[in-house]
Amino acid sequence: MTDFQIERKQKRRRLLDFASRLAELRDRVAPREFGRLMARIRPFSMMSYARLKGIYKGVCDVINRDIKGDFVECGTARGGCAGLMRLTAKVRGDDRPMWVYDTFEGLPLPSVDDPDHELAKSRVGQCRGEFEDVRSLFENLGVIENTRLIKGLFQDTLPETRPESISLLHLDGDWYESTKVCLDHLYDKVTPGGVIQIDDYGHWAGARKALHEFFEARGISVKLTYLDYTGRQFVKP
Ligand SMILES: C[S@@+](CC[C@H](N)C(=O)[O-])C[C@H]1O[C@@H](n2cnc3c(N)ncnc32)[C@H](O)[C@@H]1O
Repeated sequence: MTDFQIERKQKRRRLLDFASRLAELRDRVAPREFGRLMARIRPFSMMSYARLKGIYKGVCDVINRDIKGDFVECGTARGGCAGLMRLTAKVRGDDRPMWVYDTFEGLPLPSVDDPDHELAKSRVGQCRGEFEDVRSLFENLGVIENTRLIKGLFQDTLPETRPESISLLHLDGDWYESTKVCLDHLYDKVTPGGVIQIDDYGHWAGARKALHEFFEARGISVKLTYLDYTGRQFVKP
């Protein structure tokens, strides 16, 4: 990329960040549908406005385009984002199943494949959401039906328990190994035209590395849509 192209890309991202901050402000003052749904789950998610909106739009998009398959979130913590996924579908009369995976014991140990291994190690046990609390949240939101909570390491649970097809896949496991194992087990289940969002692309080098290694190994070329400094989304070719 030339200096001019880099500068243009940075300018565009600053504009997108600004537009997102304005939308967030507007949603606080006079919330539209997304603002109203987000207000119900906001205390239970650590994700930014822009990334939650990415999930909301992804759900609307796969429903509008009639993309078949379940919703999946790998890395749920306290359940806010997954709750938003199901709520968004519910208000559209769509009750496709949702699968939610987590240790429910917080972040596991990263591997040495994480370039920022030392920093990542200091986060072990963080982002913890309790299984029973997440279940109660889904009950309170009225989205417990058709929702499966699967407790354990992705490495142990995904080979055994996963949907036949996926329309929206949210990867939010932070580490290299956590992202890689989800792509290895779930990418082929995503229906072409389905939406994949990755939360940690900009924040954790291991997540980014796992995604690019996967693309390279499979010869996949996609346009990654910028959501904010760390979130990216793409449509499966
Ligand atoms: C950043 S948090 C998820 C945030 C959540 N999506 C939200 O809306 O706030 C990351 C989660 O991924 C889970 N996680 C990371 N690696 C995992 C693995 N290999 N197996 C199971 N859970 C994992 C952690 O337990 C943690 O709850």
